[in-house]
Amino acid sequence: MAIKKICCIGAGYVGGPTCSVIALKCSDITVTVVDKSKERIAQWNSEKLPIYEPGLDEVVGKCRGKNLFFSTDIETGIKEADLIFISVNTPTKTFGNGRGRAADLKYVESAARMIAEIATGDKIVVEKSTVPVRAAESILNILRANHRPGVSYQILSNPEFLAEGTAIDDLVNADRVLIGGENSPEGHAAIEELCKVYERWIPRANILTTNTWSSELSKLAANAFLAQRISSINSLSAVCEATGADVSEVARAVGWDSRIGSKFLQASVGFGGSCFQKDILNLVYICECLNLPEVAAYWQQVIDMNEYQKSRFSAKVIESLFNTVTDKQIAMLGFAFKKNTGDTRESPAIHVAKTLLDEGAKLHIYDPKVEESQIMEDLTHPSVTDHPENIKRHVSIYRDAYSATKDTHAIVLCTEWDEFMALDYEKIYAGMMKPAYIFDGRKILDHNALQRIGFIVQTIGKKLARTAVSRSWGSQSQM
Ligand code: UDX
Ligand code: ADP
Repeated sequence: MAIKKICCIGAGYVGGPTCSVIALKCSDITVTVVDKSKERIAQWNSEKLPIYEPGLDEVVGKCRGKNLFFSTDIETGIKEADLIFISVNTPTKTFGNGRGRAADLKYVESAARMIAEIATGDKIVVEKSTVPVRAAESILNILRANHRPGVSYQILSNPEFLAEGTAIDDLVNADRVLIGGENSPEGHAAIEELCKVYERWIPRANILTTNTWSSELSKLAANAFLAQRISSINSLSAVCEATGADVSEVARAVGWDSRIGSKFLQASVGFGGSCFQKDILNLVYICECLNLPEVAAYWQQVIDMNEYQKSRFSAKVIESLFNTVTDKQIAMLGFAFKKNTGDTRESPAIHVAKTLLDEGAKLHIYDPKVEESQIMEDLTHPSVTDHPENIKRHVSIYRDAYSATKDTHAIVLCTEWDEFMALDYEKIYAGMMKPAYIFDGRKILDHNALQRIGFIVQTIGKKLARTAVSRSWGSQSQM
């Protein structure tokens, strides 16, 4: 069976970009992305896509209406497809067994049930959401328990490794594609069909095939390893601040070792995003269920270090501002969990904002791509406050960095947007209260230049002298 029609359930950060690139690379395959949210589908069919992702507009523009469709008609999508991707969200459970750690599979389950009700003929069902090890088995159980004559299923695991902000490039030039399936002739045949889709643009040598469980665990493992590197360098950033070392120099020296490599060694206010925390918590929970408490504790420490880093940065802001921020005006530059995305899930900015608001600060927030409604939703969430009405009085959202910083006591930079490096800091300084502080949570600014303007500067992983140091010392910050 050659794949002619693909349906993707879930038009989010994973399903949308992934299927757009598949449509781009496979002009003979019709790709339909379905979602239960009418609003989301309407946005995918409009000029303003629901997610900001560099290059996505062009890809969607080329394919939409030709071989790429966005629809709320889930039933027809499933019925007509040879291959169905499940790309629904898998948040961390907020109640019951495994609360706060285990992945909530209710959306995956409901997608599986829908397939079980509607599908006819032979279907390949591909689990693309990050789901715990052995989730494919649960999907299969639902499908086979609701078996109807003339319908057969193969379940594959094909985890997504795209990072937000670089999703299109990650998909087009993927390091590897991972496909896991059942170790049987039918399983191998299904894997082969999905391989043929990716082979249109990914060299066969970079398409790895494994058993289903290895594939599922590899996704959690890859994210856990990446997050572990950030927590490791962040732990050392605290040592650098307490001594004379500079974490950028340490990262460079360590990363130059080809066995270690230079990526994911950028110390920061902490990692965020929809995957790292969720996947590690999930791994921890799985280890506990497997009665492996030492392994669980080992990975939990990566999360604990990230919490420590976010708290440490917030505490530094408060301490520097004479131990009180009550009624102080603080500008927050950046709210997304990283640059080039409007996504705020698990953004360290939320943690920092909460701490400052709890201490009575007034926040002026600017982010180039996060909508005002999203910032307000994040800051009025019950996990952040019991008094949403207070938040609305203490938080103002601005449309540019200059108005956000005007008349403030301090700037707290939480996201590494390129435009923050190109701002006119002389102008910003002139508009601020004095002494004017900058807390660079991403180590992207030219700290010496800021000090020369008159700012009091604090950053991650480096103790800055109060006056600008000569650039010839070689410990200048990156810019
Ligand atoms: C991640 C994985 O990279 C991706 O492969 C997986 O499919 C999903 O999870 P994503 O969360 O989109 O992708 O972004 P990523 O670039 O990995 O960044 C995650 C967080 O770590 C961000 O908050 C980022 O700012 C932070 N980070 C990253 C650092 O603090 N330092 C670094 O050196 C790298
Ligand atoms: P991710 O980052 O994993 O892609 P998102 O939250 O961005 O997560 O997207 C998941 C999408 O899946 C949402 O748009 C949601 O409406 C959709 N979704 C969840 N469950 C179902 C379902 N049973 N049927 C159709 N769409 C679903």
